[in-house]
Amino acid sequence: MVFAHVIVGNTYPYTVQDWETDINLAHAYGIDAFALNVGADTWGPARVADAYSAAEATGTGFKLFISLDMSSLPCTSAADATSLQPYVTNYTSHPNQLKYDNKVFLSTFAGETCLFGQATTAQGWTTFLSPLTGTNAVFFVPSFFSDPTTWSSTGVLNVMDGGFSWNSAWPVDATASNYQTLAASDTSQSTSLIISANQFQGTQNSLLVENILTSTGPDATYVSALQGKPYMAGVSPWFFTHYSPQTYNKSFVYLADSLYASRWNTLIQYRNSIPFVEVITWNDYGESHYIGPIKGSQPNSQAWVDGYDHQAWLHMTKYFTTAYKTGAYPALTSDVVYVWARPHPKDATAPDSIGKPTNYEMLEDAMFAVVLATSGATLQLNLHSFTVPAGFSHYSIPLSAGDKMQASLFRNGAPVVQVDSGNYTFNPNPPSYNYNAFVTFGCSGSC
Ligand SMILES: *[C@@H]1O[C@H](CO)[C@@H](O)[C@H](O)[C@H]1NC(C)=O
Ligand SMILES: *[C@@H]1O[C@H](CO)[C@@H](O)[C@H](O)[C@H]1NC(C)=O
Ligand SMILES: *[C@@H]1O[C@H](CO)[C@@H](O)[C@H](O)[C@H]1NC(C)=O
Repeated sequence: MVFAHVIVGNTYPYTVQDWETDINLAHAYGIDAFALNVGADTWGPARVADAYSAAEATGTGFKLFISLDMSSLPCTSAADATSLQPYVTNYTSHPNQLKYDNKVFLSTFAGETCLFGQATTAQGWTTFLSPLTGTNAVFFVPSFFSDPTTWSSTGVLNVMDGGFSWNSAWPVDATASNYQTLAASDTSQSTSLIISANQFQGTQNSLLVENILTSTGPDATYVSALQGKPYMAGVSPWFFTHYSPQTYNKSFVYLADSLYASRWNTLIQYRNSIPFVEVITWNDYGESHYIGPIKGSQPNSQAWVDGYDHQAWLHMTKYFTTAYKTGAYPALTSDVVYVWARPHPKDATAPDSIGKPTNYEMLEDAMFAVVLATSGATLQLNLHSFTVPAGFSHYSIPLSAGDKMQASLFRNGAPVVQVDSGNYTFNPNPPSYNYNAFVTFGCSGSC
């Protein structure tokens, strides 16, 4: 099954109709359920109730489950556990509640330090879970940020029915100073195998980082630590956040570039060991990894989000969700070209007191493209030309200040797809630092 992580905290103005629209959209692209990330907002339960009503009203069979955000919710006392239990008991009988093994599916963001009045994490979560019996029984798949190899000896594994590796979605260990060594030394995959399976043609840096992006090291650690319990992997298209010390005090990037397609292909290759995949995220504007529409209430991320719709990535998601769920890449009925790039060179200077995000140096001034071709063709990306095979392939070309993004797919000398990137320019003089992605696509026929 494929889930998408939804930050309920960004849905304050949502109506039931907004939820219906989002659920229909997610369902259309092969997402089976929303993980509803709830924090301490007092209005959160009301939005969750609306989401469940909306899911039922769509008639799609789309599922929902709660993801308790333990970076926001209190979890020091036993009373804190009691106050969270209605998130399970209120929906246990709802037709759109995701069940697994006949139990209420429940996830978290963090929670590895929650004690709920007890001495250990294992005892703490037992305090929360043990009253939930019978029809309220929970299938607990947390994303604990603790070392998976300790879970067995600390008893944490006993409270888990499965495990979600949030950070498996990005190569989080890659930094400006180590990424080149990391790329060269990561031998958990055969580079040539993955790159050819990924049909990658691109700039030298992209070829190098492709090895990091397709590493299954973090997944393997989890699968082994879970001792046969189901593993949930993360997949994400991007990461850039830019908050001043006076607000959320975080400004950094993770290596992404050609990540989304590469990671999906890896998950599809290992799908027999990965029963659940969670797309991070549907609507987390603050960290730039949304694939849903820009709506609701942004967490003061307008400076890097407005004008940067990512729904081309949602469209691309369908190809991968189909392959992941069925084991076969779907037959293509139209040609599609997706392109993306950052809005300004990584070294551009902006009048922005927050400064450049940590690790921006490892990014590449490039335009990235994914092609889904019904048959062989020729791809033109700005002045670069590539021979395209049938099916999936992806590309990168260098981008210089002032460049536009122009992409066309030709067959027998005639254009079959032309991508319109509107007024996009790789801007050498940005008004503020923005390492989000401008993403767009074009296709032949209806798609
Ligand atoms: C559970 O339902 C009660 C009664 O409708 C409601 O007051 C409460 O807010 C709900 N809590 C959650 C977490 O959904
Ligand atoms: C912001 O975070 C950094 C570490 O990431 C820390 O050194 C600094 O003190 C924090 N600033 C504020 C105002 O909290
Ligand atoms: C392109 O121009 C339109 C209309 O002038 C504007 O709304 C939009 O934000 C611009 N897009 C970008 C990426 O600058």
